[in-house]
Amino acid sequence: MVVLPRIFGRRRCTGNLEVVSLLITATLCLLVTLQIYLQDKKSQTLREDKILRKQKSEPQTWPDMFLNSVPKCTKNSSASKIQNFSTLPKDIQDFLFYQHCRHFPMLLNNPGKCGGPQNSADVFLLLVVKSSPSNYDRREVLRKTWALERLHSGVWIRTVFISGTTGDGYEKERLNKLLELENREYQDILQWDFVDTFYNLTLKQVLFLEWMERFCPDVHFLLNGDDDIFANTDNMVQYLKGLDDNDGSKHLFTGHLNQYMEPIRQQGSKYFVPVQIHKPEIYPPYCGGGGFLLSQFTSRIIYNMSHSIPLLPIDDAYMGMCLEKAGLQPRHHIGVRTFGLYVPSGQHEAYNPCYYREVLLVHRFLPYQIYIMWHEIHREDLNCTKRTKGNENSEIFMH
Ligand SMILES: *[C@@H]1O[C@H](CO)[C@@H](O)[C@H](O)[C@H]1NC(C)=O
Ligand SMILES: *[C@@H]1O[C@H](CO)[C@@H](O)[C@H](O)[C@H]1NC(C)=O
Ligand SMILES: *[C@@H]1O[C@H](CO)[C@@H](O)[C@H](O)[C@H]1NC(C)=O
Ligand SMILES: *[C@@H]1O[C@H](CO)[C@@H](O)[C@H](O)[C@H]1NC(C)=O
Ligand SMILES: *[C@@H]1O[C@H](CO)[C@@H](O)[C@H](O)[C@H]1NC(C)=O
Repeated sequence: MVVLPRIFGRRRCTGNLEVVSLLITATLCLLVTLQIYLQDKKSQTLREDKILRKQKSEPQTWPDMFLNSVPKCTKNSSASKIQNFSTLPKDIQDFLFYQHCRHFPMLLNNPGKCGGPQNSADVFLLLVVKSSPSNYDRREVLRKTWALERLHSGVWIRTVFISGTTGDGYEKERLNKLLELENREYQDILQWDFVDTFYNLTLKQVLFLEWMERFCPDVHFLLNGDDDIFANTDNMVQYLKGLDDNDGSKHLFTGHLNQYMEPIRQQGSKYFVPVQIHKPEIYPPYCGGGGFLLSQFTSRIIYNMSHSIPLLPIDDAYMGMCLEKAGLQPRHHIGVRTFGLYVPSGQHEAYNPCYYREVLLVHRFLPYQIYIMWHEIHREDLNCTKRTKGNENSEIFMH
């Protein structure tokens, strides 16, 4: 009883010291931990900074002509002196004011799409899909289906979506941001700073051909098409590999052939072209713009010809004009059905995968239909032994 308080007292005394030293140690420990944590955090931010800076600095390696050095193209006000100008629709007037503009700065580029110009012969088929900024859902589904970048039967398929800008002010900024985000994830968008309208599709096409000559000059073949088609790219590779000259060094331009087509002179039509823009009453033969295949050889010639032919607001007919000037003919391919398939009986049969397994291309598909069909035609248990009417498939791979 006597000892206890003493011991207790002593312990209490040392206890105080222990508590104090414990507190000091703890505080020191805390400080050291905090210091380490802060240093860690700092170096992590530095690392992120470096990555960001690296990403940001990439565009600066683009050749000058594709950035700021493109002079802003000015409106040709004297276009309004064209006969009966004031009676023309607003978008045709707009076309005439800016018809001479052929150079626009790039907002998004992928200079390394084909592994650099000198390695671009490694790309067998480049899929070039015209897509305007808001068609996000279409691009998403194409990336998962027929436009998936891949090695197929020993050759490379690569994809670019080509786009201008749409919307005004804030909306335009947001849509540009969307493309930037997509491009960061997939590296598959080429975007120029022009207004993406129907009458500007020829401009888009010519800008692409210019881009290709610079960044992917030795690609063998191109599929040029819209973002609402179903393209059986497996079959396309098979067809192109089967050609006598399958390195793209010979003339090839094939799709759904349109002949003896007349410019539409009715105001109000989507395809309206007044005589002030195109005088002849007939277009040269051309392939429907929904989708066509061409060789590297032919794409270079078309680009070369385009310099001396004023832009026409109808992009596919313009390709025909370039071919005609070069003395080359477009050809019909039975597997390209830009006007849809003729399917004899009803709704159900219209989506019979046996038809789509055999064609090269069909126009006008909704994103979900593309998704389903791509999976259906690749099903291992798909049995197409029973010949379906209207499906003369053996002709498709013959030229
Ligand atoms: C401007 O339009 C007029 C009338 O069509 C044309 O004669 C002239 O060549 C155009 N100028 C340019 C730079 O395209
Ligand atoms: C211009 O309008 C006049 C009167 O409507 C018409 O006679 C003439 O053919 C038109 N010219 C062109 C090039 O459209
Ligand atoms: C084509 O793009 C240019 C550049 O953005 C624009 O000024 C012009 O209005 C567009 N033309 C049409 C017909 O939309
Ligand atoms: C078009 O081809 C000709 C003949 O090969 C060549 O002289 C000319 O420079 C080419 N033009 C362009 C713009 O590529
Ligand atoms: C496919 O269908 C045909 C006719 O219905 C049948 O004779 C054939 O055995 C089937 N083949 C397979 C692999 O199921």
